[in-house]
Amino acid sequence: MNHKIVASLDITDEKKLISIAEEISNSVFAIKINWPTILSLGKSIIGKLSMFSKVICDLKIADIPNTNRLIIEQISKENPWAVIGHLFPGPDSMKSLVDNSGEIKIIGVASMSNPGSNVYLNPNFENLVSDAITLGCYGIVAPGNDYELLGKISRAKGPLKIFSPGVGAQGGGYKKAISSGSDYVIIGRSIYENPEPLKYIMNLEGEN
Ligand code: XMP
Repeated sequence: MNHKIVASLDITDEKKLISIAEEISNSVFAIKINWPTILSLGKSIIGKLSMFSKVICDLKIADIPNTNRLIIEQISKENPWAVIGHLFPGPDSMKSLVDNSGEIKIIGVASMSNPGSNVYLNPNFENLVSDAITLGCYGIVAPGNDYELLGKISRAKGPLKIFSPGVGAQGGGYKKAISSGSDYVIIGRSIYENPEPLKYIMNLEGEN
């Protein structure tokens, strides 16, 4: 098993999704799904995938505290391993997610892998990371394709685990992300669009 890869299976066809999940589940840390999958297949897909792997729901929840509570209560019924929420709406909103998540781990977005993250999120990463620590998040999302920022976030992360998208299709390298401070590397298209997903995962350790 590669304990550091989170496979982001942004697939809307259930047969293809289950088939890849089955193939790679013993070789990854977790499977992440996002809105396209949940909107297409319904939230019951979380339980089906949980038979193979830990499931991270990338909902990027970003609402007022009461609505955040209502959302996390609903998604909790499907028992995902973790849920991703935004930190930018402020500590009251993230606190509501953490306080109402029970056993489910909450991962907060500290920075994003798209260039636009430089406009609003990145100038505030220190406050966002500090909130995530204070509020009891399990982890944070930080970009695996911006090694300098990832390094800074890694030095500020305290007990948090860092989950890094941006590797593969968005230009980041697996080993560079790990050496810059990622605990877990999130990889989507490079896995699920590959004709041999398992082979691709197995070869990552040999990447330069
Ligand atoms: P790809 O195909 O680009 O998929 O490898 C990446 C997956 O991760 C999500 N993503 C992010 N999630 N912060 C997040 O919380 C980010 O900066 C970020 N960048 C990408 C993306 O939606 C897809 O599911």
